[in-house]
Amino acid sequence: MELSNAIKNRRSIRKYAPCVVKTEEIEELIRSAQQAPSWKNSQTPRYYVALSDEAKERVLGNLASFNSERTQGAGAFIVTTVVHGISGYNRDGQGTHLGNGFECFDNGLAVENLILKAHEMGYGTLIMGLYNEQGIREMFQIPAEENVVVVIALGKADICPDMPERKEISDILKII
Ligand SMILES: Cc1cc2nc3c(=O)[nH]c(=O)nc-3n(C[C@H](O)[C@H](O)[C@H](O)COP(=O)(O)O)c2cc1C
Repeated sequence: MELSNAIKNRRSIRKYAPCVVKTEEIEELIRSAQQAPSWKNSQTPRYYVALSDEAKERVLGNLASFNSERTQGAGAFIVTTVVHGISGYNRDGQGTHLGNGFECFDNGLAVENLILKAHEMGYGTLIMGLYNEQGIREMFQIPAEENVVVVIALGKADICPDMPERKEISDILKII
């Protein structure tokens, strides 16, 4: 698949047809996520995946209710975290004006790779920022040194949404 087509045609999917996602497919997605650039190649994003019916039910129970309704039938849920306090800092602890911001930046780069790869593999995705953080942390036993960032639903799209309107380039770009 052409990268520019994937960038243009990928959409957030909020209705899923039942499907089975294989472990090898998850590994392929994580390999793509791992190719993303990161601060000093620190590779702080981590991934926790619910693939069994029981684990998926538990994730659904920890999502905001509208997200839970939208992602019933997803084949997997991928939780992304970052090992906190590394990205954005030098070895001597000196950081930038963004503080911890670069750790979420690194996570976002990895997630974009992941969702574009999923699109190429024929899967739809929905990034979700609204969930019960404590519930997600407990179910996967996520260590305290990691910050939970997003939950991503992955599955077969049962809907073909139009692209939500984008701003004009002139509204977001300044060239001098
Ligand atoms: C950090 C982040 C959090 C998001 N959280 C949610 C969410 O909780 N529920 C939801 O339905 N969409 C969520 N979205 C999806 C956006 O609403 C969506 O990407 C945007 O409307 C543009 O649509 P598109 O992805 O189809 O281009 C989130 C996206 C991002 C990047």
